[in-house]
Amino acid sequence: MAGASRARVVCLAGDAIGPEVMAEAVKVLRAVVPDVELVEHPFGGDAIRRLGEPLPAETLEACRTADAVLKAPVGAPEFDAADVRPEQGILALRAELELYANLRPAARDGVDLLIVRELIGGIYYGAKGTRADGTVYDTCEYHPRQVERIARRAFELARGRRGKVCSVDKANVLETSRMWRRVASEVAAEYPDVEFEHMLVDNAAMQLVESPARFDVVLTENMFGDILSDEAAAVTGGLGLAASASLGDSGPGLFEPVHGSAPDIAGKGIANPAAMLRSVALMLEHGLGRPAEARAVASAVDAAIEAAPTPDLGGTATTAELGEAVLSLLPGA
Ligand code: NAD
Ligand code: IPM
Ligand code: MN
Repeated sequence: MAGASRARVVCLAGDAIGPEVMAEAVKVLRAVVPDVELVEHPFGGDAIRRLGEPLPAETLEACRTADAVLKAPVGAPEFDAADVRPEQGILALRAELELYANLRPAARDGVDLLIVRELIGGIYYGAKGTRADGTVYDTCEYHPRQVERIARRAFELARGRRGKVCSVDKANVLETSRMWRRVASEVAAEYPDVEFEHMLVDNAAMQLVESPARFDVVLTENMFGDILSDEAAAVTGGLGLAASASLGDSGPGLFEPVHGSAPDIAGKGIANPAAMLRSVALMLEHGLGRPAEARAVASAVDAAIEAAPTPDLGGTATTAELGEAVLSLLPGA
C-alpha cells in the first residue's frame, strides 16, 4: 500500500476473452473500492500489435510502482508461430517483479487445496536453444535457494490452513527433483507442527482426480504446478472458476485467472468472469490489504455462480449477467 496516498492498480486487459472478463472486474472494483485508482496499460498480443513487444517498458514501470497488478489472460492464435509472443510478456513480468510464489486455490464439496507453485525457475527459465545438429532443448534448472524460499512460503501458508504440505516432484528421474526433495525436507524439519510428505508427480496427478480432499498445500515446481493447477481447477468446478495470486517478498503482487484467453469462445459474451473476479478478491486480500472487501467479493461470486451460471457451468448466463449478479449480491447493493 502506498501509505496515505491513493492505492493504484495496473489493469492488463489481455487478449481474446481477456477484455471481456476484465470489464466485469473493473465494475466490481469500482463498486467495492471506489477509492482505488485503476490504470490500464498495453500488454500481451495487444501490445505486440501496437508497440511491437508484449511487455513495453512503460507498462513494466507502471507495474513496478503500482500497489498491485490485475491481469486478464493473454494469447491469440495469430501469434502461435511468431517469434514475439504474448506469453513472453507474462514470463518477463513475473521474473521482473520476482514473483516466485504462485498461489492457486481450488475448493469445492469437501475439497480445499492450495497449489503453491514455484513461478520463476525450472524449465520455463533454464537454458534453451537449438544445437548445430538440429536438436532443440529446454533445460530444467533450479538453485537450492529458489527451492528453499518457495518451500518456506508453503509451510507458512500451511500453518494458516490445515497444517499439511505435500511436495510434488519427479525425484525418481530428475536431478533437480532430488535436490528439491532434499531442500524441502530440510525446510520441513523447521516446521514440526506441519505434516509433510513427498509425492511423485504422476501419482499426484492421479490422486488429485481420485482423492482431492486428501490435499491441503501442494508444493511444486513451475511446470508441474502449471499442469496440476488446471487439473485441480477441473476437479473443483472448472477453469472458469480458478484464480491465482503471484507474490514475491516485497513489491506489488500479480493477480490473474489460471485459465487462458479462450479464443474458441472470444467475442461471444459467454466467458465465465468468476476466475477473474476471484482474482480480484485475492488482490484485495493479498495485494491491497482489504480483507473485508475481499470476503465480500468472494462470497458474492460463490452465490452468483449458483444464481447465474455461465455455459461452462451448465447455465445460460452471459459474462455480463454473471457480473451483474455479483454486483447485486455485494453488501449494500
Ligand atoms: P484456455 O485456458 O484459454 O482454454 C481451455 C478451455 O477452457 C477452452 O475450451 C476455453 O473455452 C475454456 N475456458 C477457459 N477459460 C474460460 C472461461 N473463463 N469461461 C469459459 N470457458 C473457459 O487454454 P488454451 O486454449 O490452451 O490457451 C489459449 C491461449 O491462452 C493460448 O495462447 C495460451 O498460451 C494462453 N494462456 C494464457 C494464460 C495467461 O495469460 N495466464 C494462461 C493459460 C493460457
Ligand atoms: C498459466 C499459463 C502460463 C504458464 C503461460 C501462458 C505462460 O499457462 O498461468 O498457467 O504456463 O505459467
Ligand atoms: Mn497454465
